[in-house]
Amino acid sequence: MNRNYIRGIKMEHAPQKDRYLKDLPIVKYLLREKELVFDEPVTFFVGENGTGKSTLLEAIAIAVGFNPEGGSKDFQFETHKTHSELYELITVIKGLKEKDGFFLRAESFYNTSTYIEENTSLKRYGNQSFHTLSHGEAFLSLIQNRFEGKGLYILDEPEAALSPQRLLTLLCEIHRFVKDDSQFIIATHSPILMAYPKARILLFSEEGIQAVAYRDTEHYKVMKQFMDNPERMLKYLMEEEEV
Ligand SMILES: Nc1ncnc2c1ncn2[C@@H]1O[C@H](COP(=O)(O)OP(=O)(O)O)[C@@H](O)[C@H]1O
Ligand SMILES: [Mg+2]
Repeated sequence: MNRNYIRGIKMEHAPQKDRYLKDLPIVKYLLREKELVFDEPVTFFVGENGTGKSTLLEAIAIAVGFNPEGGSKDFQFETHKTHSELYELITVIKGLKEKDGFFLRAESFYNTSTYIEENTSLKRYGNQSFHTLSHGEAFLSLIQNRFEGKGLYILDEPEAALSPQRLLTLLCEIHRFVKDDSQFIIATHSPILMAYPKARILLFSEEGIQAVAYRDTEHYKVMKQFMDNPERMLKYLMEEEEV
């Protein structure tokens, strides 16, 4: 049974205002198929840069009531108005109402931290200003102190700030919250993160969107090939370049 807070998304009408949206895999997919289903507690968006992962995360986040730049539903700040019209075009199929939620973007984390410091009680956030911590420490501290469980958590490239060791900690935290009835939707390039077992990996590409097995992702294959023998791959790459 699908117990997710967001069970899927649909789209009835093609984009009109933002022309570039028409070329995005998610738009092609939703106009062709009926629905994109989120049937596991963790959904990963993976794929090349520029395939629209952040655009979709942002549209989903705004459609369910989060601030476009990140935060929980009561955060109201906006430093740049850059979000697309996609949030108006998609219909989010909701399940039960979540008790907690957060939209976390690596790229606007600084602004989110400032907002937290100026507008909320730091008690909820581990009693420490995020500006006095490193990016990675702050990111993890937010998850460990602020996330309450039974929540909907939307994360855009959370690995950006994290060391491999902290990435493993993040995996454990995700698991802790999943056991407490949480749902995660995460855009990532991290082969460590996307190994999470109760996950659906959705690949964004020219062809649209398709579910892929962990070991079939480019991220896993390229990283494994590289790690198995860095010298061999470097030699191959450098020689190619010199031709
Ligand atoms: N305001 C905009 N005008 C034109 N193109 C845009 C705009 N915003 C994003 N794009 C394009 O949409 C595509 C998807 O971007 P994005 O969602 O950030 O990709 P990803 O997160 O997968 O790397 C990119 O090719 C980007 O250049
Ligand atoms: Mg992105």
